[in-house]
Amino acid sequence: MAAQLIDGKAFAATLRARVGGHAAAFVARTGRQAGLAVVLVGHDPASEVYVRSKGKAVLAAGMASFEHLLPADCSAAQLLALIERLNADPAVDGILVQLPLPAHLDEQQVIAAISPDKDVDGFHVINAGRLAVGLSGFVPCTPLGCMMLLTDQLGDLSGMEAVVIGRSNIVGKPMAQLLTAANATVTVAHSRTRDLPAVVRRADIVVAAVGRPELVRGDWIKPGAAVIDVGINRLPPANGEAKGRLVGDVAFAEVAEVAGAITPVPGGVGPMTIAVLLRNTLVAAWRNEGLEVPQDL
Ligand code: GUN
Repeated sequence: MAAQLIDGKAFAATLRARVGGHAAAFVARTGRQAGLAVVLVGHDPASEVYVRSKGKAVLAAGMASFEHLLPADCSAAQLLALIERLNADPAVDGILVQLPLPAHLDEQQVIAAISPDKDVDGFHVINAGRLAVGLSGFVPCTPLGCMMLLTDQLGDLSGMEAVVIGRSNIVGKPMAQLLTAANATVTVAHSRTRDLPAVVRRADIVVAAVGRPELVRGDWIKPGAAVIDVGINRLPPANGEAKGRLVGDVAFAEVAEVAGAITPVPGGVGPMTIAVLLRNTLVAAWRNEGLEVPQDL
């Protein structure tokens, strides 16, 4: 393997420790813990795993965790009433409604109900707009985590060619905004892009966030490029396996032969998402108290 491995797990552990230090400073300053409310509707197994690990990480960082589990058939009115209560609760600094929601609930309506000052996911249109025009707000956790890994690995991104594969509101679009703000030249590719391999071959930075197992191949990669794999896909079980393998959107073994640096799956981008969520929650807490956010948070 030619590429350097980008160790998201280690980077996330360092970030979590730093957030933990700041969380203690917040308690010392205000006499209360920063708090995150996580709302889960229904019993999607992957979402249950995420919500449990978020709760544990929040407690481990010295912050308060409030979990709200609603039945799969809960009404929009019930969910919106809960969000209203959390918006008004001074112990709650951040609100995260786990997506996807059951089909009868309108995700955009639910996100719009969250106070932009508590929207630690950065999904509210106010925060998306702030990011688009360069104002400070909340930036979605996964792309912000990717950005931290990239700047740690590459330093200044000015003038680099970046290709983001995927245009979701959660990853692709905010990722493109962040790379643009860092002076990269950004292309957003997607399912309708003509000759995707040729587009990706131009890139010094590739961010793959499409949810297609091992889509990005070794011969798509410019030698030395940095490759960030946001995908988490479970393959069907092969012979004798109880569970299928977990793979990213990048064919890791072949891409690692050509790239300069690459994130593994698991252990790359995944651990960064929760670490950044903790950071965003603590930023919200300092702001909600009307205090200056510490520079190194
Ligand atoms: N579902 C998958 N990723 C996320 C995330 O970052 N935030 C929320 N709220 N739901 C998700």
